[in-house]
Amino acid sequence: MIEIKRLFAETATTEEWHDYHRVMGRYYEDMNGEPVEREPFLRTAKSGMTSGNCVERTFLAYDNGVVAGSASFVRYDGFEIVFTDIAVLPEFRRRGIGKRLLDRLCSEAHALGLAKLFLFTVDNVPSGELFLLRNGAKKGIVQKGNRLFTKDIDVALMRRWIAAGTKAGFESGVWHNRIPEEHIEQYVVAYNSINDAPHGELETMAVAMTPDAMRASIRRFIVNGGNDILIAWVRDTLSGEFAAISDIALNRSQPMLAFQNNTMTVPQYRGNGFGKLVKAQNALHLIEHWPRIQSIRTSNAEVNDAMLAINEKMGFTQVQTHTFWEMGTEKRI
Ligand SMILES: CC(C)(COP(=O)(O)OP(=O)(O)OC[C@H]1O[C@@H](n2cnc3c(N)ncnc32)[C@H](O)[C@@H]1OP(=O)(O)O)[C@@H](O)C(=O)NCCC(=O)NCCS
Repeated sequence: MIEIKRLFAETATTEEWHDYHRVMGRYYEDMNGEPVEREPFLRTAKSGMTSGNCVERTFLAYDNGVVAGSASFVRYDGFEIVFTDIAVLPEFRRRGIGKRLLDRLCSEAHALGLAKLFLFTVDNVPSGELFLLRNGAKKGIVQKGNRLFTKDIDVALMRRWIAAGTKAGFESGVWHNRIPEEHIEQYVVAYNSINDAPHGELETMAVAMTPDAMRASIRRFIVNGGNDILIAWVRDTLSGEFAAISDIALNRSQPMLAFQNNTMTVPQYRGNGFGKLVKAQNALHLIEHWPRIQSIRTSNAEVNDAMLAINEKMGFTQVQTHTFWEMGTEKRI
């Protein structure tokens, strides 16, 4: 007998949290090839679910009392995207559990007024794509999942990029786990320029970050979640605007991996070598301060020639293909 139970973050038992890690940890391990350490993983998960600045639902599926799957959606303040994850342990697949979880997510999201779920699949876990196609999801942008080993970073090249991107009238640096209060308004303006990056046909990719939502995301991921973030930046000293920013997330649950998140050069500042500058600053910072990190992962749109060119010059190579999907939450056939 299959039973779907909601996981309430405030009151969940230790056993329920362990069940959640058993399923989701397995999925992320299959995706990234590195085990997911339970306690840091759960600390981050609880921090997110209890942060109060998101709408979230998380469910566990049990097959005769044994955990078989998990599914969740979350929409954080500052993002239009409703991030959704569904995973069923390999030994329980093709028994309709994934579909039961998806149906439950859709009805809960619909009741909350959320019209669309946003999902993600990786080609080295191929069941996800087949499942979503079967269930009527709309395929969105396809991205290259790239990887660079830190031992392969060309330090001399990174220094040259920093020298070439250092221009009069601009200052640059790397922040660890903070965005200084006096810069947060301008930082958020630059962050929202990610909406100009190629993002294919999907409607719900937009970011609408505010200073408060940014502070909350730092609190959630770093202060309460126990993780680290590096933010490289270039700033126009006259206007105070940020010309380029790039952030790297270091998850405690996968301690040898770094995730390169967004890098953006604001449109009017392009063509100055700032994109390369911020990437190089973060790369050197990683090598110098984070010896435990062995590789950097990133995901780039196949249509984003500028970012791909920088990454290829840095030595990133494609190891996966990532696909983004959208799914309406109205009643499905
Ligand atoms: C995707 C996933 C959640 C599906 O779970 P599941 O419980 O096996 O799915 P269901 O049994 O409900 O499958 C529903 C239908 O999807 C299709 N489907 C699912 N997996 C498939 C596969 N491996 N090959 C072909 N079709 C598949 C089938 O049409 C299936 O119906 P059928 O078995 O009657 O033919 C599971 O394979 C998984 O955990 N994969 C890794 C995580 C992931 O990629 N998640 C998706 C993105 S969030």
